[in-house]
Amino acid sequence: MKYDVAIIGSGLAGFSVALHLAENHKVAIFSKRALLDGSSSWAQGGIAAVLDSSDSVEQHLSDTLIAGAGLCDEAATRHILENGRSAIEWLISQGVPFTPDTDAELGFHLTREGGHSQRRIIHAADATGQAVQMTLEQKIRQHPNISLFEHHYAIDLITSDKLSDTASNSPGTPHCLGLYVQDVRTGKVHTVSAQHTVLATGGAGKVYLYTTNPDTATGDGIAMAWRAGCRIANMEFIQFHPTCLYHPYAKSFLISEAVRGEGGLLKLPIEAGAAAGKRFMPAHDERAELAPRDVVARAIDFEMKKRGLDHVDLDISHQPPEFLQEHFPTIYARCLELGIDISKQPIPVVPAAHYTCGGIVTDMFGQTDIPGLYAVGETSYTGLHGANRLASNSLLECLVIGKAVAEKIDAQETILTADLPHWDESRVTNADEEVVIAHNWDELRRFMWNYVGIVRTTKRLERAQHRIRLLKEEIDEYYANFRITNHLLELRNLVDVASLIVNSALSRRESRGLHFSRDFPDTLPKAIPTVLAPEIRDKIKRNQPARVKK
Ligand code: FAD
Ligand code: SIN
Repeated sequence: MKYDVAIIGSGLAGFSVALHLAENHKVAIFSKRALLDGSSSWAQGGIAAVLDSSDSVEQHLSDTLIAGAGLCDEAATRHILENGRSAIEWLISQGVPFTPDTDAELGFHLTREGGHSQRRIIHAADATGQAVQMTLEQKIRQHPNISLFEHHYAIDLITSDKLSDTASNSPGTPHCLGLYVQDVRTGKVHTVSAQHTVLATGGAGKVYLYTTNPDTATGDGIAMAWRAGCRIANMEFIQFHPTCLYHPYAKSFLISEAVRGEGGLLKLPIEAGAAAGKRFMPAHDERAELAPRDVVARAIDFEMKKRGLDHVDLDISHQPPEFLQEHFPTIYARCLELGIDISKQPIPVVPAAHYTCGGIVTDMFGQTDIPGLYAVGETSYTGLHGANRLASNSLLECLVIGKAVAEKIDAQETILTADLPHWDESRVTNADEEVVIAHNWDELRRFMWNYVGIVRTTKRLERAQHRIRLLKEEIDEYYANFRITNHLLELRNLVDVASLIVNSALSRRESRGLHFSRDFPDTLPKAIPTVLAPEIRDKIKRNQPARVKK
């Protein structure tokens, strides 16, 4: 397989790069499941951008920097926010059916979410991601220059430093030459040669037991880039969304922050006895329900632990049923299916892992440390999200950086040719006990939830680190000896990502944004990103957390 550009991932980041490039380039998109499986299609609230003259980039910037708790890269943040309006105009030109509002300047309704001082979230009711992805999917499927490979799992990147000198035309300069990809349905592994490889693989929520994320979110891109030699930043900042539906039959169903934006109140549930029905957010933060996510998630965690509760309530029943059905049709219908009429009763909610703020270090064109390798979307770290992402800034980043990656690739000359070695499975056998993989998955996600969650201690992090090391040894042995399956590959990646999260968390000797440590409750005066670099890998293997300045 030979392509100008190989894009790994078919979320908004991957689609955005592909559509901006396909006029001039042969593009391949590899996606490990069906095309629309991924977080992008699940996005509810919307996309943040300055779309009204009563708002300004300065205000959006200020809100983002406040949520980011001093750790956003201001120049990168400004750049992305300044390009917000044109990114939204591009989506409108593609035909995305955003919720109309004839009174609004741009003609579309703007909602509000926590941490935003203005109504600036453009949305398609409460299923924005689906509306965006389904519209773009049609263009992607019809485009003659785009080849689609669904159910193709990217295993690892191929970089020139791993090949013999003769295999690459510029020995000594590491660059990305392509990837190995497994056709999940046949098991066959293909070698893909590409001038440019783009990681658009999304986040890593599945490293935690409870998450709002789809099953695809196993941090594959971050793990692949790390193994290939890229720097990875700020992995301790895992965002827990405050309001995931709490119900035995609901797997990973989010109750959008827009519900609080439109007046939803957090209350203590009936199990709280005399305090049942009482609002608790005003006692935690003056912004109450509209405080940034880290504050709200921590407050819920505090109330649940203090009172021995398994959930809290989110109540929007004071709004008229017609309003709820118009603004939140998906949430309304899903809750009703489960016996909860949100116009009459509160919604039981818990915090759950939602967004990976850190990732592969890139510049504003998505360029990573390895020439020929780009990263975009939730897998990347541009500096926009700092220590806590502001709601609805993520899809915006996919759009703005996705376009920039395409422009950068378009401006590059064709440079590389190489004969790439094929995948060799001749020395491995089928696994003797597949069930080991499932057990290890479960163990990893459970201890990450218990030891590396919303409130952390050094002792718990060290416990997690110890278990990760044991799991890693077992998985490496499995990987070396047995035929690969996508479950094994995902577990291998999740363990690498878990290790990055724990090592980053251990190295931060303060509390900031989403990282709260009981042992270091104060925030240090100077905000420094945690950047793990390949040269310190040996140290990490020896169980010594390390920190390198950017
Ligand atoms: P994704 O959309 O997750 O796509 C990743 C793609 O990579 C998938 O196609 C996946 O199959 C593929 N992939 C992964 N690994 C491999 C591999 N090894 N080989 C091949 N393919 C691979 N953000 C907002 O801004 N606004 C919102 O309203 C909002 N709501 C959200 C609601 C929910 C429930 C969730 C989970 C997230 C929400 N977010 C929201 C966050 C936002 O949706 C994501 O950050 C964003 O969609 C990420 O886009 P992406 O393209 O980077 O990744
Ligand atoms: C939501 O709708 O609450 C999700 C928004 C986001 O994650 O940005």
